[in-house]
Amino acid sequence: MKERKIEIPLKVYAYEELSDADRQLVDKAKEMTNHSYAPYSHFSVGAAVLLSNGETICGSNQENAAYPSGLCAERTTLFFANSQYPDVAVTTIAIAARNESGEFVEQPVSPCGACRQVMLESQWRGGRPLRILLYGNECTYELDRVEDLLPLCFTAENME
Ligand code: THU
Repeated sequence: MKERKIEIPLKVYAYEELSDADRQLVDKAKEMTNHSYAPYSHFSVGAAVLLSNGETICGSNQENAAYPSGLCAERTTLFFANSQYPDVAVTTIAIAARNESGEFVEQPVSPCGACRQVMLESQWRGGRPLRILLYGNECTYELDRVEDLLPLCFTAENME
């Protein structure tokens, strides 16, 4: 038996250290938490994506009384971006979340597995790395590509 370790490269920024463009995208994600519809979890998530054509698309989590029918902010936003601009790459996604007390979470928000998988597919469609910015009050994580958030990921290539 051999043991292998997988290291995940990520950069840790103080909010003030972010580039102007990244701070703007993070601010949009934070703003979008106000558009969240989360009467069941009271966890308000916002996302903002930057496209290679310079457009920014925003979204938030949308819940439903039939719980599984709701959708996370990341997928709401990416599906909208990919349906509006099917041939334009998503270059960056910023995500922010507020808890039940209305405070932004202290640690960088952690996207669920399904959203990571959808990010992977958006990245594949775009044909270039999709950068991820995960906002927290304490710090923001930057990951250069989706595989860094989803090691040992499943893609169409795994079916060949
Ligand atoms: N949620 C997101 O929108 N994104 C995430 O990355 C994690 C979870 C939503 C789904 C649900 O509306 C609420 O947060 C609680 O899970």
